[in-house]
Amino acid sequence: MDVAAINPKSFGLGFRSKHFQDIQQDPRGVEWFEVLIENFMGVPGLGQGYPLEQLKTLRSQFPLVFHGVSLGLGNTTEFNKDYLQIWTKLIAEFEPEWVSDHLCWNGVEHKNSHDLLPMPYTEEAAQHISDRLDYIQNLIKQPFVIENVSNYIEYENSEMNEWEFLNLICKKSGCKLLLDINNIYVNSFNHNFDAENYLLSIAENNVQQIHLAGHHHEEDFIVDTHDASVSDKVWELYRQSLKHHGPKPTMIEWDDNIPEYKVLVEELNKARKIQEQTHEFA
Ligand SMILES: [Fe+2]
Repeated sequence: MDVAAINPKSFGLGFRSKHFQDIQQDPRGVEWFEVLIENFMGVPGLGQGYPLEQLKTLRSQFPLVFHGVSLGLGNTTEFNKDYLQIWTKLIAEFEPEWVSDHLCWNGVEHKNSHDLLPMPYTEEAAQHISDRLDYIQNLIKQPFVIENVSNYIEYENSEMNEWEFLNLICKKSGCKLLLDINNIYVNSFNHNFDAENYLLSIAENNVQQIHLAGHHHEEDFIVDTHDASVSDKVWELYRQSLKHHGPKPTMIEWDDNIPEYKVLVEELNKARKIQEQTHEFA
């Protein structure tokens, strides 16, 4: 596992088994891969249990980060013990550079809704998340990374903005952020706030990684679909993030209607170009 560490100026992609041979023939400059951990866990109802052979080969060639969708950080029931057991075993075996999941809840009584459901932005919820992060961070002995989700509802009892909620959790728990810039844009449109102000409110040293993705614009709202190229508005917001936070490891998320590997690399290279331009004019 003697491969270079992920540096802030580097670019990665979400690993897809169907792209494995393309990557083996020519990774086309992609420097690291994000692995959807549930795909390799084989927990009934939570993952498909793909063979680990591809993952072992990939790990010998590239640095990896693990990303999850089923931890249930905001749930009010205990973490799923079967899930955590396999999850920690894979983390110990593959030594990803960091591990992330979403700032959300996803079910009750161990019934997984398979949705990333938003939290109310309250002091109580921030403390609840931070207490659960303490448990997780003790388990994996490194800062955990949480991703901001797209959401379509607002809670009447929220006491602060989304970005204030993120900052509060970082302060309480010492966790880092996987900033999904598409999700920020989607939420800013659907809930009518200033996306750039959101970015400016996030401290540079809290940002560990960046996600960029495509969405679908309906007449008066946006759905976060991850099935298209990144929109111009999101590219512009990425440019603002680079100016404010400096370069951060960045990747394209494309989870539905997944295109050929070379198309993903072309999209990733747009991000690379923006980083180069931003650096030139800094
Ligand atoms: Fe994301």
